[in-house]
Amino acid sequence: ALATGPGKQTQLREVEGVPLQAAIVDNWGQIQSFEAKPDDLLICTYPKSGTTWIQEIVDMIEQNGDVEKCQRALIQHRHPFIEWARPPQPSGVEKAQAMPSPRILRTHLPTRLLPPSFWENNCKFLYVARNVKDCMVSYYHFQRMNQVLPDPGTWEEYFETFINGKVAWGSWFEHVKGWWEVKGRYQILFLFYEDIKKDPKCEIRKVAQFMGKHLDETVLDKIVQETSFEKMKDNPMINRSTVPKSIMDQSISPFMRKGTVGDWKHHFTVAQNERFNEDYKKKMADTSLAFHFQF
Ligand code: A3P
Repeated sequence: ALATGPGKQTQLREVEGVPLQAAIVDNWGQIQSFEAKPDDLLICTYPKSGTTWIQEIVDMIEQNGDVEKCQRALIQHRHPFIEWARPPQPSGVEKAQAMPSPRILRTHLPTRLLPPSFWENNCKFLYVARNVKDCMVSYYHFQRMNQVLPDPGTWEEYFETFINGKVAWGSWFEHVKGWWEVKGRYQILFLFYEDIKKDPKCEIRKVAQFMGKHLDETVLDKIVQETSFEKMKDNPMINRSTVPKSIMDQSISPFMRKGTVGDWKHHFTVAQNERFNEDYKKKMADTSLAFHFQF
């Protein structure tokens, strides 16, 4: 039995063909007129691609590896989520406006929906991409437990919904291709979840360089340890344990679920995998973006 609590708000609405939560669409004017500043760093991800992970990495770098400073607030409050809206709470835009510079912000928006001032101010973008199959599995479990996103239905049903981009923030394909395409024209560090998993120190060093931070090897090693899945899973400032069950029901699926590469193999049937690979080839034919792992 999947979560269909009576309070579950299942409705997504669209902005230029991209499904989004209704509260985001209601606040669209404020989001689009967001005023970025030249020293903003924007963390950009498709949902379930390692947003929380890269946020903790960025924060640890920013705080020079000081764990206590990273405990100052829940991770979801440390970097304003610009399109976030849940009235009467302050919106992501309002939280960002109240934040001193230099700001570190985050978004799940595809390039064509990004507030234009980010481009105009030539902000830094830190993009993390995750292989589509694991992303889809992670999103499926997230929608089961997240009571403010639509019920995913059965895995078979979700397979269709996801392939058709009818999930919140739209098509994975459009998202990754869009951010990959603007890479040469803007200051973008484009990372892969699988690379961070494989060689965290190397990728963390790249992030630090991109942020203009010079860290000692010992600090880098500490950041690697503190941002491991096991450490982050037990960290109450990260694992969403303080989020009410009416929003995230972690008895259905934990927020820090598995944190592995290749979990899709436990979900896709052989037939689904073949069909998915065909579709993938077609949708990725017009991009030079390639994922560095086998699937
Ligand atoms: P799984 O559901 O596959 O476990 P986001 O933060 O964008 O919502 O992404 C969530 C995914 O990132 C989840 O994937 C989560 O477990 C994984 N994740 C979070 N922290 C991680 C870490 N330190 N190392 C590896 N994966 C991590």
